[in-house]
Amino acid sequence: MDRIEAEKRVEELNHLLHQYAHAYYTLDQPLVSDGVYDQYFQELLAIETEHPDLKYPDSPTVRVGGEIIEAFGKVTHENPMLSLANAFNEQDLRDFDRRVQEATHTKVAYICELKIDGLAISLRYEDGRFVQGATRGDGTVGEDITENLKTIRTVPLRLQEPVSLEVRGEAYMPKQSFVKLNEARDLAGEDPFANPRNAAAGSLRQLDPKIAASRNLAIFVYSIGGDATEYGKDSHSDALDYVDELGFQTNHARKRCTSIEEVIAYIEEWTEKRSALDYEIDGIVVKVDAFEDQEQLGYTARSPRWAIAYKFPAEEVTTTLTDVELSVGRTGVVTPTAILEPVLVDGTTVGRASLHNEDLIKEKDIRIGDTVVIRKAGDIIPEVVAPLIEMRTGDEVPFTMPENCPECDSELIRLEEEVALRCVNPQCPAQMKEAIIHFVSRNAMNIEGIGERVVEQLYRAELVHDVADLYTLTYEALIELERMGEKSVSNLLTAIEQSKENSLEKLLFGLGIRHVGVKAASILAEEFGSLDELMKADVEKLITIHEIGDKVAESVTTYFANEDVLAVLEKLRKAGLNLQYKGLTQADVPNEGVFVGKTIVLTGKLYEMTRGEAKKQIEALGGKVTGSVSKNTDLVVAGEAAGSKLTRAEELEILVWNEAQLIEALGESQ
Ligand code: IVH
Repeated sequence: MDRIEAEKRVEELNHLLHQYAHAYYTLDQPLVSDGVYDQYFQELLAIETEHPDLKYPDSPTVRVGGEIIEAFGKVTHENPMLSLANAFNEQDLRDFDRRVQEATHTKVAYICELKIDGLAISLRYEDGRFVQGATRGDGTVGEDITENLKTIRTVPLRLQEPVSLEVRGEAYMPKQSFVKLNEARDLAGEDPFANPRNAAAGSLRQLDPKIAASRNLAIFVYSIGGDATEYGKDSHSDALDYVDELGFQTNHARKRCTSIEEVIAYIEEWTEKRSALDYEIDGIVVKVDAFEDQEQLGYTARSPRWAIAYKFPAEEVTTTLTDVELSVGRTGVVTPTAILEPVLVDGTTVGRASLHNEDLIKEKDIRIGDTVVIRKAGDIIPEVVAPLIEMRTGDEVPFTMPENCPECDSELIRLEEEVALRCVNPQCPAQMKEAIIHFVSRNAMNIEGIGERVVEQLYRAELVHDVADLYTLTYEALIELERMGEKSVSNLLTAIEQSKENSLEKLLFGLGIRHVGVKAASILAEEFGSLDELMKADVEKLITIHEIGDKVAESVTTYFANEDVLAVLEKLRKAGLNLQYKGLTQADVPNEGVFVGKTIVLTGKLYEMTRGEAKKQIEALGGKVTGSVSKNTDLVVAGEAAGSKLTRAEELEILVWNEAQLIEALGESQ
């Protein structure tokens, strides 16, 4: 084939293959058989191999994945990619509806859509050709993952019209592909992905586009990036229909609703039907349809006021309980954990679940071999809800707790008024390891780079027996450990060294004194100022402190009377740890500034800090943070999905700030 012929044929094949791919992947109406498609595809590949300069950047052959790249470039989004405020129940939805009606003074129509559980993506087209794709990143700047996105069949490389536009959508991995991928990873000895969302994100963050190409990802487009009125559309539903016509895949389960009742019915319908979908959804997005109404509602710093994401409650699924495993915690409590036939719960593969304690197992009559109902508690740790008695075959085995510690074999004790069984052997290796894990954790000494695995290694290598031994670790000893490189060793040693400077409350919490949580540790550190002063305190002195009760007082004095404890503390002192409180004391609180003497209520979700941190900072600046809104409240800070407290503040006409305003004021006051 000569050059002229080749050029012409490449043009033809590109055109044909784009049309076929659009019909097949997006419209689900194939125009030709797979065989014919393949034949043209191979023909194009062959010509491109012979004439590499004829390979267009949007050639259908890029779907197989191009060259490996070195690093992802940065992409600044023309308009920030915001997130959505959440609704968790019917009331939140009705509140949203009320706010919308009040602001627009009309009865608006909503579009309800499935909330796809994947990752947000932006796709840019120039003259109908795909030119750049990016992740959301921090909302302002994302990563350029164009080459990986080109491998996704539902990302059109050429549009049906030569328009220039940006669309946004959700890239996801279908459930079936996720299961297959994890099976293959398991066979290859690789760690499985926890859920389809992580698998999709992990695939798109690969520098080798061939990996993304092999992962069978897909995308649903849910909006036009910029101002959709530029394309002559005046509502979200029209914009989506247009995007559909251009060749994108949109989700067709969307519905226009003219009342909040209809919205709620849609949510109920999909709460039932969602498990039958072949992709994960984690909620329903409700959007005001008319752009005019959207404009009137506007935006907060993070999210549009014209939309809300309803989040599904925790899903309950059934599986088989194959075994019960016992673990010994930091305080010697022996906890039973259910080992399960792995199942997907709320998008995460679950193979273990908490059984809490022996009494609960007996009360619910949970047996090994039972079919059990499980759910995620507080959305994180899965728990066994109940066995399905009617599914029993008679082969199920009741579970009884052992009499001896599964780690050190010493006799287990049930302390008075406690449901838990405890190992009280202070030399029990499990307890020692757990104590170290607790000591290095974030709210304690915050030593990054030491997790369960490293503690296990350190313990086995007899490098640590108690928390003070962490400060004797050397480069030479650590580098010998498996999977420890030069960089991780030096990072670890730096983290250990830095932890010596921590303020006293972190150490107090880290020591793991019974009943002394983050809050009590903070109060004790602030009150006594140094470890030495605290050690001198007796029960009478301790209970005079506001918020310190008998239990904490007893526990603290018993702790400091223990010889073994004193030996560890001495080692810590010798290692050079700071044993003083470094935070603010009452004398440090300023008497001038915006917060001084003000009563403030925090409500809703904050992003830049937790409510606890915000409270601490406000108090350090002389403000008082209370829990409920009254006429004595001076200011309400409303984060995302603020509910009744915000409504009350509005009723009482109290000053309301958003998170950005709070941060600004905190910054200025410092
Ligand atoms: S609209 C202004 N529609 O949910 C934000 N988002 O926080 C507009 N998502 O990161 C988003 N399905 O990636 C919209 N049908 C849908 C969606 C959807 C999933 C994701 C999106 C965003 C997050 C919301």
